[in-house]
Amino acid sequence: MAKAQRSEHGEWSSGLMFVLAATGSAVGLGNLWRFPYQVAQNGGAAFVFIYLLCIMLVGLPIIVAEITLGRRGKQSPINSLRSIAMAEGVSRYWTLLGWLGVASGVLILSFYSVVGGWTLYYTAQAFTGAFQGMGVEAASEMFGGLTASPWAVVLWHTLFMLLLFGIVVVGVRDGIQRTVTLLMPMLLVILVLLVGYGMAASGSFNEAALFLFQPDYTAVTPDTFLTALGQAFFTLSLGLGAIMVYGAYLPQNESIPNSAAWIVGMDTATALLAGLAIFPIVFAAGMDAGSGGPGLVFKTLPIVFGEIPFGVILAILFYILLAAAAITSGVSLLEPATAYLTEKGGSRLVGAGSVALVIWLLGIPAALSQNIWSDLKLPGGQGIFGTMEFVSTTIMLPLGGLLIALFSGWFMRSASLAKELGVNPGNTLYLLWLFAVRFIAPLGVILIFLNSLGVFGG
Ligand code: TRP
Repeated sequence: MAKAQRSEHGEWSSGLMFVLAATGSAVGLGNLWRFPYQVAQNGGAAFVFIYLLCIMLVGLPIIVAEITLGRRGKQSPINSLRSIAMAEGVSRYWTLLGWLGVASGVLILSFYSVVGGWTLYYTAQAFTGAFQGMGVEAASEMFGGLTASPWAVVLWHTLFMLLLFGIVVVGVRDGIQRTVTLLMPMLLVILVLLVGYGMAASGSFNEAALFLFQPDYTAVTPDTFLTALGQAFFTLSLGLGAIMVYGAYLPQNESIPNSAAWIVGMDTATALLAGLAIFPIVFAAGMDAGSGGPGLVFKTLPIVFGEIPFGVILAILFYILLAAAAITSGVSLLEPATAYLTEKGGSRLVGAGSVALVIWLLGIPAALSQNIWSDLKLPGGQGIFGTMEFVSTTIMLPLGGLLIALFSGWFMRSASLAKELGVNPGNTLYLLWLFAVRFIAPLGVILIFLNSLGVFGG
């Protein structure tokens, strides 16, 4: 089968645009909402170091693998894996890995969109100055009021999905690329401004830095590793084909290793900067970072914004940042399944529309599990929302990543990989990468899985 020159969905106009889009996918609620509260709940710096280790040893090799598979296949993950498996003469069952990815993406976006809806609501509230002088109680009432109202959460979830649909339906270049070109530079500027504020004005910057960088290993349990690994996959958008499909749109002459290094570097920097933006103001207000859990940026921060100088403006900036990051990530969760349906012969309108509809429907139970269905516990002891989050991010993503590493490392010819990466098969860095996808990344995932099952007596 002749290899297509470009994807039928179009291409990014440059390697930089790919880096922006993929960084847009990576930098999201995972960095600004999930990472800070996970750090706070898992013992601060000890968690940060384990997380960084997972990023370097497992995340980096796998992101290179995903981009490589995508650009080689130039289609949706399902069809890319099918055509690569055929070209390499291995089992066509590898296509199932593409399906696993589509399923994970649909599941993740359905609860991600609920939180995305919260970010839109809080952005609207910030503009009205609603946080001014707000105490602990009023803040929990605001968050409680939103999540306790089935209509409100579903309404904001609907708006968020409509927004994503509106972007994805327009196409790779006119929709996604345009959005990231607009939002990503803005996002960086806002984040740097907020860190600058934390440094200059909060008086608690050192405390925050110590919290992030001075480890307390007594808080580490087997679950810390699993959580850190899940977070590494989640934050880099790995394991389900989102980066793979973006890689399918990467022009042939652009360097994959360079792009990957930029994406990982920017994503990691953003997570740490988010910590340095959020913790100083939380500590300065004398609040506890860990107690709020997932409520950190929705319950704790509004109180802080209500108290500090320039709080109105800082709040507006912060929630725009959060919403923008959620939008550029959300589109990458919608794209793999959309691309697949479009390849089946549908229009982008039908493709994006049907995927968005399914995700919207699945998001409704996630939204309702925080109010009218809050008593419902699924096997495993968590509610619908928590179960969706746990199963998709902590189990399906690492599993998808493991299979991606095994497929590229063991089932593809080294010559095909080196060719797509544009390197000589004897190149030292290339050999290091191959070693990492063959051994380090798979073993890392497997050991962490076994560890969390208590196999090592944890
Ligand atoms: N990485 C995003 C975040 O940190 C979320 C995300 C977008 C994602 N696309 C993904 C997670 C694909 C896993 C897979 O918020």
